[in-house]
Amino acid sequence: MIKRPIIIDTDPGVDDTIAIMLANADPSLDIKAITPVTGNVQYALTSRNALFLREYLDMDCKVGDGAHTPLFIENKDAGDIHGTGGMGGYRVPTPKKGFDGYAWDIIKEEAEKAGGELEIVTLGPLTNIAITFLRYPEIKPLIKRIVCMAGTGGTGNMNRYAEFNVWIDPEAADIVFKSGVPVTMCGLDGNDFCGITIDELNGYLEKVKGSKIEDLFSHIFKHFVKRRIAGGPEDCIQVINDAITMAYFIDGNLGKTRKCFVQVETKGTVCAGQTIVDFNGISKQEPNVDVLVWSDKKMFTDMLDKMIEFYKK
Ligand code: BDR
Ligand code: CA
Repeated sequence: MIKRPIIIDTDPGVDDTIAIMLANADPSLDIKAITPVTGNVQYALTSRNALFLREYLDMDCKVGDGAHTPLFIENKDAGDIHGTGGMGGYRVPTPKKGFDGYAWDIIKEEAEKAGGELEIVTLGPLTNIAITFLRYPEIKPLIKRIVCMAGTGGTGNMNRYAEFNVWIDPEAADIVFKSGVPVTMCGLDGNDFCGITIDELNGYLEKVKGSKIEDLFSHIFKHFVKRRIAGGPEDCIQVINDAITMAYFIDGNLGKTRKCFVQVETKGTVCAGQTIVDFNGISKQEPNVDVLVWSDKKMFTDMLDKMIEFYKK
């Protein structure tokens, strides 16, 4: 089987962790590198978590030292959502191995090596990718596609219209969306169809028993359950955005997209970080982004089940 060369750009993060577990379990992917970026928690923690995950999951890939801050604006995070340390309070041991170089240099090298076949999945703010394009614009034609967990064509989770990963670094998202590289945006609204209930989360806590990932996975799923019970009714829904994006990346049948013109509001006063999706072609601008408009929950949960089986072998 010819494997797809990919780089995972990420800010782990509880849902990033599940996404990386999914990618690592899929035989069709050849993960060349993980490139951490500041985001869910401060960079010292996202980068430590990325280094840790490589060891925890026995991954044979590089880890690249990425951006400590957004391009132009002050650093913020979502530590309250992802728990102490970014892993829902899981006590992350100090990784033994360090970085293999800078994120942008590794992305460039891998893009050149893959000769046009490299795909990038981004699960955090787009800062590392923007830096790569600013520093090495010549490699843009070598990137086959970027699939991002980013944005929303509907309502936001940081202000009324902005999604976290774009809100953290809107200028970076703007650079990437305008880059001419094929971009697929798996936003909050497209992912929402795959939300799972408290009962389903609890079901996974049973299923994962006896697998190699049991301790970390259960920790994260218990964190989801606790947060949801604290915040709403029993059956409210957990959308594991980064994992849904990775699942769609692995199997494109999981979602439907529409090619639209998308602009990033970089300087808004009430909606900075909004991804303005022109679903109706009103702007008359050339569409630049494939926008996920629907995703298949059954396929997503089947993939989670398959992933757990992989870690039981
Ligand atoms: C995104 O923001 C982060 O908190 C998650 O990891 C995900 O990438 C959802 O808005
Ligand atoms: Ca993330």
